Parts: sequence; structure tokens; C-alpha cells
Amino acid sequence: MNVLNVAVAGLGTVGRETVRLLRARRAELKERLGAELRLVAVADRAAEREARALGLAASVVRYRDPLDMARRAEADLFVELLGGLETPKRFALEVLGRGKALVTANKRLLAHAWPEITGAARTGGARLAFEGSVAGGIPVLRALDLSFSGDRVLGIDAILNGTTNYILSRGEEGLSPEAALKEAQHLGFAEKDPSMDLSGQDAAQKLTVLAGLVTGGWLKPGSFPVAGIEPVTARDLSFARERLGMAARLVASLRFTGKPGAPAVEAAVTPTLVPLGHPLAAVRRQYNALLVHTASAGDLMFYGQGAGAGPTASAVLADVFVLARDIRGGLPAAAAAARRLILTSPDHTVSSFYLRLEVLDRPGALARIADALADAGVSIAAIHQDPVSGRRSVPVMIVTHPAERGRFERARKRIMSLASVKPSHCAMRMMA
Ligand SMILES: NC(=O)c1ccc[n+]([C@@H]2O[C@H](COP(=O)([O-])OP(=O)(O)OC[C@H]3O[C@@H](n4cnc5c(N)ncnc54)[C@H](OP(=O)(O)O)[C@@H]3O)[C@@H](O)[C@H]2O)c1
Repeated sequence: MNVLNVAVAGLGTVGRETVRLLRARRAELKERLGAELRLVAVADRAAEREARALGLAASVVRYRDPLDMARRAEADLFVELLGGLETPKRFALEVLGRGKALVTANKRLLAHAWPEITGAARTGGARLAFEGSVAGGIPVLRALDLSFSGDRVLGIDAILNGTTNYILSRGEEGLSPEAALKEAQHLGFAEKDPSMDLSGQDAAQKLTVLAGLVTGGWLKPGSFPVAGIEPVTARDLSFARERLGMAARLVASLRFTGKPGAPAVEAAVTPTLVPLGHPLAAVRRQYNALLVHTASAGDLMFYGQGAGAGPTASAVLADVFVLARDIRGGLPAAAAAARRLILTSPDHTVSSFYLRLEVLDRPGALARIADALADAGVSIAAIHQDPVSGRRSVPVMIVTHPAERGRFERARKRIMSLASVKPSHCAMRMMA
């Protein structure tokens, strides 16, 4: 097989760059692979216009309907870069059902349809790769899949969302979260509607993909705690930095437990304070990083650009290359068994917590807060109240001693029901 035919669905930001790289690197790829990777078809609503702009040969078939391409194109390898859920899902199931290889960068598709997609790959004996779906250009999925084969991945603490990291790290430089978001949008890497990013849902989808890759099971979206950065204010960021020597990051965490064949996982996405000397505090602006904890190799940090046309297309093309090499080598598709994933609650995880409250200036208000914490078994390590200057409410910052998450959450609920505490507040886990 001296030629492998490739079809690309979606000629948007990533699709166009993938096609450009595929053509620009044609000679190198051919030399390394010992075969030509030939683009034979593209699909996009504006396929004709985009193909012309990319200077594609007339022999490259243009489809307006990606599903039509999935059914008809004579390709060995299909690349899905459409975005969204329904059409990509039908596209993926069609391609895998035909036993063809599929590369996708679609975290939403993988997070919401993990059992169907991996099931279709298994049934169809088809290859599937999705490096670009998590942390863009950082080649961490292949490392998790292969490089720790002789080791055991114990857990992952990761910054998986560039928009929230930009906001939090620019905040340390004195910019308000609102101004930092505007700046990120202006620079073109934050979405016009950033709600999936700010709420932690984007990071949660990526966590599902990571958990699926490591365990073979489906960490169902909505089944684990996810909190975003909306409550974090400039005051929290400056207090954390100046008084606590810490920086806020949106950390997506996984802890793998259970036995071989019966994996269990604990998962959470939560705004977290990390000491300024911690590797995750050094991750600034739109960068992503994954701190992978392993049994034998120790802790490893993967760092780089988590999105953008270049980094994502680089990951997509690497997937195309690796799958093409496997096809050429006649390797059977790696059909890992589907596993039932046991979800363990993070309620017993122990850490200190930061809690900022707006408390009405009333006698006994602080005592009631302290009682709520004490009744849940959470003890206070430090408490700070800004001087009252004729305001009806004052910010109160509390740092707890290490406590179980479940106990802290119980106390928080009770505190938020107190008449002397306003609803707006911020809670962050503190990493040692
Ligand atoms: N951009 C990044 O930095 C990045 C990073 C990591 C992963 N990803 C993932 O990569 C994928 C592609 O992202 P992107 O930023 O390249 O998206 P994009 O710029 O919106 O490109 C998607 C392209 O596919 C076309 N398309 C979508 N649905 C179609 C349909 N049903 N029929 C025909 N054409 C259709 C779109 O046409 P219309 O515009 O007409 O809808 C558009 O040209 C997504 O899954 C995304 O999550 C992106």
C-alpha cells in the first residue's frame, strides 16, 4: 500500500490548517511513512470555496454534506473537524461502521458519545485517535496511552482551559476578570460565548476523554462535581497572592483507584489555590498543562498550547500519521475492552479550603459562621476581615485547616443559609 487516502470533514479553523500542513509536509511524511498520504476528499458547507482558497487539485472531491462523504469517499482515513455533536456523531458512526480509521479533535463528541464511538470502533475493527481533543498541541494522550504501559497512572491534575487560565493569571497582574475576558476575546482565543469555559464544562468534557483513555470506561458528563471560575473576583486573586502566597487555577483532577479490569475514578473540576512555587502556578495566560502522577516514573508535567489552529492541526496530523503507520504495518486496531467505570465520590478528599463571604455587619454574625464550620468538623486556620467603613456588609476571608470536602460543603451550605451572609461568595480548594 503505497498510497493512503485521506478525507477531511470541516474546513474551518483547524480543518484548513490540517489540510495546509498535510500538503506542506507531504514529502517528509511520505519519506517517514514509506507511503503517500493523499487528500482525496473534503466536506464543508462551503467546500468549493474553501478548496479553491486552499488551492486543492480538481481531483479532490468536494462534498457539501459530510455524511455523504462518510458514505461514499474512497478513503482509508477520515478526519472529523466539524464541531458540534449530532452530525459528527453520525459521521463517526458511519466511518467506523465501514471499518475505516477516524481522527477527531471533538471533545464534545467523545465526552457525550464515548460508549457509542468506542463501541463502533471495536465492532468495526476500526482505528480511532483523538489527540487534538484534549490540550490541543500537547501530545499527552499518546503518552498516557503508550508511554506508561509499564507503569501505572495514579492521577492527573490539569489546567485544560485556556480562557479561564488567561483570566486567572492576568488577574494576578492586576487585571479584573471582566477586562481579562475581553482581552482574551479580542486576541481571538476566547469564544464569544464563554459560558462553557467559565463554568468548567469545557474542562469537564476533556476530563471525560482523559478518564476514558486511561480506564477504558465512560466518566459520564454530569456525574462528577464541576465548579467554574465565575465567583472568583480580583479581591480573591490579590488576597491569595499577597496574604497566602498562592495563585488561583481552574484544576481538573482525576484519581485512579480500583483494580485492573475494574477501574474506579474520582473526578472533579474546581477553582483551586496552588502555592506560587507549584508547577501549575507557573502556567500562565492561555497555556495548558497536565501534571501526571505515576507509580514508577513519579510526577511528569506536560505543558503547551491547548488550542489554536496550529497546535490542534499538529496533533490531528500526528494522529493521521500514527494511524497510517499502523494501517501500513498491518497492526490490528487496538480494541480495548469497554469497562464499567466505578465513580468514587471526592467527598472524602482532604484539603484546606479558602472561603470568601460577604457578611452583614451584625453582632454574632462571625460566631454563627464559625459554629457552622465547627459543627461540620472543619476548623479555621485563619480569618481575615477587611476594616468596616460604613458599609452594610464586609468581605470575610476564611482559610480552613485540612478537612474532608464533604464536611466543608456541608458547612458552606449552612453558612449560605444564614441571614447575615449574602449569596455572593467564593470557595476554592487549596493544594498543598
Ligand atoms: N479551534 C481550536 O483551537 C480547537 C482546539 C481543539 C479542538 N478543536 C475542535 O476541533 C473541531 C473543529 O473546530 P474549529 O475551531 O475548526 O471549528 P470551525 O472553525 O467552526 O470549523 C468547522 C467547519 O465545519 C463546517 N461544518 C460544521 N458542521 C457542518 C455540517 N453539518 N455540514 C457541513 N459543514 C459543516 C463549518 O461550516 P459553518 O461555519 O458553515 O458551520 C466550518 O467550516 C471542533 O470539534 C473543536 O472542538 C478546536
